[in-house]
Order: sequence, then C-alpha cells, then structure tokens
Amino acid sequence: MPQRFAQLSDPHLSSLEQVRARDLFNKRALGYLSWRRKRRFEHRPEVLQALQRNLELPKLDQLLITGDLTHIGLPSEFRQASDWLQQLGDARQIALVPGNHDSCVRADWQQTYALWQDYMASDGSAGQGDGAQPFPSLRVRGQLAFIGLSTACPKPPLMATGTTDAEQLSRLPELLTRCAEQGLFRVLYLHHSPLPGVEKWRKRLTNASAVHDIIEQCGAELVLHGHGHRAHYHEMTTRDGMVPVIAVPSASALGLHGADTARYNRYSVERDNDGWQLGIDARCYDRESGEFTPGEQREVAIRRPVLPL
Ligand SMILES: [Fe+2]
Repeated sequence: MPQRFAQLSDPHLSSLEQVRARDLFNKRALGYLSWRRKRRFEHRPEVLQALQRNLELPKLDQLLITGDLTHIGLPSEFRQASDWLQQLGDARQIALVPGNHDSCVRADWQQTYALWQDYMASDGSAGQGDGAQPFPSLRVRGQLAFIGLSTACPKPPLMATGTTDAEQLSRLPELLTRCAEQGLFRVLYLHHSPLPGVEKWRKRLTNASAVHDIIEQCGAELVLHGHGHRAHYHEMTTRDGMVPVIAVPSASALGLHGADTARYNRYSVERDNDGWQLGIDARCYDRESGEFTPGEQREVAIRRPVLPL
C-alpha cells in the first residue's frame, strides 16, 4: 500500500482588519499597505475552507505547510494562525516550516512561534519548545522521513529573501545521511527554493548554493517548497540519483494578479524493485464551483538501490 501525504503553502490566512497604527512602524507598514491594496482580495478564507473540505486529512500520513501563514508576522496573526491550525488537525499530523512573511521583523518568541511550536516540532519533542532552534526538524512516518528546514529570518524592507542559518546547515548532512542509511524516503521541505538562480533576486534564498550542495552530496528523494505562489517542477541530480524539486502556489489565492490560482499537492509513495514510485496529484481551486478539483497528475520513478528490510 502506498503512503500518502500532502503539501500546501503560503495560505496568508490572517486578517489585518483590527491592526493598530502603533504596530506598523518598520517594515510592517509596507506589508500592511500591500495587504490593504491587494492581498486581502487575493488570499481568501473561503478558498482555504474549500481546501479543507477536499483535504481528507485523516487519510494522510502528514500534511506539510511550507510557510507564510501570516502577512506581516504580528502576534495577533500568529494567534489567528494557531486557531486555524488547531481546527485543521492534530499537530502530530501537520508539520510546518515558517516563511519570510512570518519573520517580517524580529519578534518575541513567546508571542509568536511559541504558539506554533507543536506544529514545528520533531517527533517526541512537542511541548518542549523553549525558543531554541527547532530546525532541521524530523518526523518519521513508516518509510517516510519529513525533514523541515527554516529559511525565515528578518530582512530589510522590500526584500523577500531567506537564509538558512549555519546551525541548520551543519546538522542537515548527518540527518539526510542517517535517514538514507535507514532506507527511508526523504522529503525535505522549506519555504524558499533551494535551486540557485531560479527565484528573482529579491526573493531568493541567499545561501541557496550551500543548501543545494548539501542535497547534492547527501541526497534526498523529494524537495518541496512554496514562496513564489507559482507551480514549478524541476529535477536535480544528487549523489543518490534524481530528485524532484516541486513548488506549489498559494493555498488561498484567487489568482487575481497573474499569480496561479490556489492549489495544493497530494503525494503517494510506494516502494518497487528499482526504488520508489512517486505519485503527484495536484488539486486546484475552481472559481466557478468554489471547490478544489483534480488537476495535473504525474508518476515519477525515483531510482534508488533497495536496502534489505
Ligand atoms: Fe514567501
């Protein structure tokens, strides 16, 4: 039987309707104006409600959320996102990494990420968050290893870049290698694209080449990200063979300004004689019916030496 999981990204689910002017000094003022002018019409709660109706979370081993739950990372937005996560499902079944909007400016941990810590936690470490770096995170479900990497950190105004810090970069190779030795299908998920040169300069992962080199040298079976609000499929070559690098658009977008309409991806993974069979099943928001409907489907062979069980 194949194992199943899903990825959604960039829901930007919070409302800034009640925001006070004093919360908007610094970079947040620009983000607020962008929300007033554009984003509140593009990112819609009714789209997320339709996604949730389509999701069938109990049938999934894990739901991955690749960041940007908020617009400008205010504590009130973290609370809204925390409420949304809790009504969506159990933290053991939903794993997230933050995005650049969530880390818009430096903020108090207790008022922000502490509210999401169970959803960012590795296996066995829920409830132990103390503000220490929880990434790279690791959750193992059957033959699947989900490895979360954070690229979110405050950047200057107008910049939507990200950076993976040195501590994560130093821990990632060992994690990827250990999971490979255990014969697991490694899913690495992060907000920004780890492919150098693919994203616009203003939106890039500043040390994409360092992350890319680690994947190249240590291998993975699948890399997932968001951030660009566009669907992408790339393939990269690693020590262990080809790895798909897949981006999903925003989970809440009406697609009003040339961005892709909301979508999320479902995946199935099954072992075969040559390694793994990966099924990719896009679910796309249909504006007419107001529901998510089946989109593009793809089967990809991930060739790997099969370890004895
Ligand atoms: Fe982003």
